[in-house]
Amino acid sequence: MRLTLLHDIVRFEEKLLVKAARSRGYDVKLVDARNLILDPEDDLPEDLKGPVLQRCVSYYRNLHTTAYVEFKGGFIVNDLKTTLISGNKFLTTLALRSAGVPTPRTLFSFSKDGALEAFRALGGRAVLKPVMGSWGRLVALLETASAAKSVLEDREEMYPLYQIYYLQEYVDRPPRDIRAFVVGEDVVAAIYRYQPPGDWRTNTSRGGRAESCPVTKEIEDLAMKAAGAVGGGVLGVDMMEVDGDLVVHEVNHTTEFRNSVRVTGIDIPGRIVEYAVDGSRR
Ligand SMILES: Nc1ncnc2c1ncn2[C@@H]1O[C@H](COP(=O)(O)OP(=O)(O)O)[C@@H](O)[C@H]1O
Ligand SMILES: [Mg+2]
Repeated sequence: MRLTLLHDIVRFEEKLLVKAARSRGYDVKLVDARNLILDPEDDLPEDLKGPVLQRCVSYYRNLHTTAYVEFKGGFIVNDLKTTLISGNKFLTTLALRSAGVPTPRTLFSFSKDGALEAFRALGGRAVLKPVMGSWGRLVALLETASAAKSVLEDREEMYPLYQIYYLQEYVDRPPRDIRAFVVGEDVVAAIYRYQPPGDWRTNTSRGGRAESCPVTKEIEDLAMKAAGAVGGGVLGVDMMEVDGDLVVHEVNHTTEFRNSVRVTGIDIPGRIVEYAVDGSRR
């Protein structure tokens, strides 16, 4: 069996995936998406014919190469629907709401003035997020009207995607959130991520500290429901604790997992590899 890893930058995660696949006796082919020239008239290139693990860090590269593989009849994890929805917080929120998954109150608007009004409607304290992005980048906690106005003015100078305003109520949670890893039908691991000193965001890429979190029935059910809402596959479901309940604020599709493997000892890359290979056989 051959497994293709479609990548751009090779992170520690991709190295772990290659190792996990080789240790299971699979022949691993590394394909750098930056070197591809694809012709929609052609058959799927030989290298992309087996199961493909999509690991491009660049979202646009990830999405478009996934589309190519899927339209040409290949098998790729994650698939196009999941990548499209989970790669966009606007679409994710719509999908979570439709599936009845609890998620923080969010307002969308399409102009600076509309966004200011949404900010007021959320009680004058809100989290502004780019609809596409990760690692907490450009995720801003707006706590005064003047700060909100300044940040929104900055957004007006940016690429039009940043003028799709996604404003969410600030959830009064403990100084941590929960990341649950879904692989197909299973929640294989979960971690707490604690805010680093001087930041309100918990992303480990910003210094958030990872700690093992027991996968309770509640976490399992919610993570599976959230994963299903965006199309399922290999996903990192982010949730926050509020008043004894959990709310989902994000679903990630090409997740990093080095810290989760370190603190939980769970073989997440092994599970991902097995899921891709089994899926291609079905
Ligand atoms: N509504 C919210 N209330 C409180 N904290 C939040 C909220 N939304 C996000 N955060 C914090 O900000 C971090 C980054 O937000 P997230 O939506 O996950 O975007 P990213 O894709 O950049 O990780 C989260 O991990 C969480 O710690
Ligand atoms: Mg996140």
